[in-house]
Amino acid sequence: NAVDTAPAIVIGSGYGGAVAALRLAQAGIRTLVLEMGRLWNTPGADGKIFCSTRTPDQRSMWFRTRTEAPLGTFLWLDVVNRDIGRYPGVLDRVHFAEMSVYVGRGVGGGSLVNGGMAVTPPRAYFTEQFPTVDADEMYGTYFPRARAALGVNTVDPAWFESTEWYRFTRVSRQHAEKTGLRTTFVPNVYDFGHMAREAAGTAPKSALAGEVIYGNNHGKRSLDKTYLAAALGTGHVTIHTLEKVRAISRAPDGTYVLTADRIDSTGRVVETKEYGCTYLFLGGGSLGTTELLLRARETGTLPDLDPGVGAGWGTNGNVMLGRANHLWDTVGANQSTMPVMGIDDWANAANPVFAEIAPLPTGLEHWVSLYLAITRNRERASFTYDTGSDGVRLGWTAAHSAVSVAMAKKLFDRINAANSTIYRYDLFGSSSKVFADDFTYHPLGGCVLGRATDDYGRVKGYPRMYVTDGSLVPGSIGVNPFVTITALAERTMARVLAEDTAP
Ligand code: FDA
Repeated sequence: NAVDTAPAIVIGSGYGGAVAALRLAQAGIRTLVLEMGRLWNTPGADGKIFCSTRTPDQRSMWFRTRTEAPLGTFLWLDVVNRDIGRYPGVLDRVHFAEMSVYVGRGVGGGSLVNGGMAVTPPRAYFTEQFPTVDADEMYGTYFPRARAALGVNTVDPAWFESTEWYRFTRVSRQHAEKTGLRTTFVPNVYDFGHMAREAAGTAPKSALAGEVIYGNNHGKRSLDKTYLAAALGTGHVTIHTLEKVRAISRAPDGTYVLTADRIDSTGRVVETKEYGCTYLFLGGGSLGTTELLLRARETGTLPDLDPGVGAGWGTNGNVMLGRANHLWDTVGANQSTMPVMGIDDWANAANPVFAEIAPLPTGLEHWVSLYLAITRNRERASFTYDTGSDGVRLGWTAAHSAVSVAMAKKLFDRINAANSTIYRYDLFGSSSKVFADDFTYHPLGGCVLGRATDDYGRVKGYPRMYVTDGSLVPGSIGVNPFVTITALAERTMARVLAEDTAP
């Protein structure tokens, strides 16, 4: 087999991978990106690239025969999920023993499926999580750089107050205020100008048509429209899709050798390829990168990897829940899928929670206030390599999740008490489940900065190999994570290009 070589290879095209690709390319370094998902640029038979949450088809999920939406039921009825054909769809739910993790698959990674909330963490908490990172530099240079390149914008407050599409948010705000809690607007990468035109009927609807976790056909500035478009525009970047890197080793001359399986749309491996590079950037996300490095250490292809590889993983304290409102407190049949507000009780030292006010866009009035709570859960788990399956196991348990639930419950018990409301019991499958504590949108850690890597993401023991994604974040960042992941990747790339790649 001929080995395909490039000066730099980037594994994965989410936030960490996209930043690496753009900055390498701008430095004139020819870069190859390997992405296991597909490129989402071709309309299906219905003329659309992505399917909506209301009528999911094979495009929705990664090789499934039935969708696995976060809200499994409504009024306890199995009305949410649908049978679908097996296909490299855009959303994956990776199941471990007691936790499952949602991730995006495709050119753009998580940016294709996420809610676009672009939140910069409170500085004090960032400093606590990253004591060795210069916060002045982050807040002065890298956070602003990331936000600008991601196309972060904010909803026009006047429009927000008047539009039916955010009635659900205003109702939740009112309930929070009645409890004495603070709410805050949250920026987003969805183009709010486009959203206002959707509402006015002058632009095709996406956020206002229930599109989000299976992709947005319009309005969303996902990475394929921002960092990756710019990277490709340099002419120095090539992206290979439907290629999953399986193994990493090092050649005697110190270059890296990758083995990747190319799959077809049925998931069959049609070719196994070998790649070589001088500089290797890991952007496979918390799950993808950690699995690759753990396998490399445990199978002996990169035996000198730090014992810290695989450790320090957390869910960012994610818990989802719904409250049932009074009949007169309607949330509206029309709901934008892009969240724009959070209940910010993070400064409450006794019970720090930041709760995103989430939409539930069913197209019918349902009186549900939905939230994704980010709690300060200090539990951490490790991945271990499983020889039999050649995969990884995750040590996160239900007891770890219970810590998040207790914190979310404390906050929302207060909100219910102040508003004489109750929880919804019908949304998460089993008959009395109030708190969805068995999945996360925010997998973080596994190759933590300063432990598995140096303070800039350089992998310990292996020169010219770097981690640039969410696996660097030590299990919690207190807010939705992609701005932090992007800014840290910017910081790594600035340092690496200044110090490591000079001829
Ligand atoms: P990311 O997961 O984005 O990218 C990794 C890429 O690498 C993927 O494309 C994957 O297919 C590929 N890959 C992995 N292993 C590979 C291998 N071996 N070979 C080749 N390719 C490989 N965050 C936020 O800040 N605001 C929000 O509103 C939301 N909302 C949200 C909703 C939903 C439904 C989800 C699933 C997630 C969010 N998030 C979010 C989380 C956010 O999307 C997430 O933190 C980032 O995408 C993580 O970025 P990374 O660069 O770490 O990996």
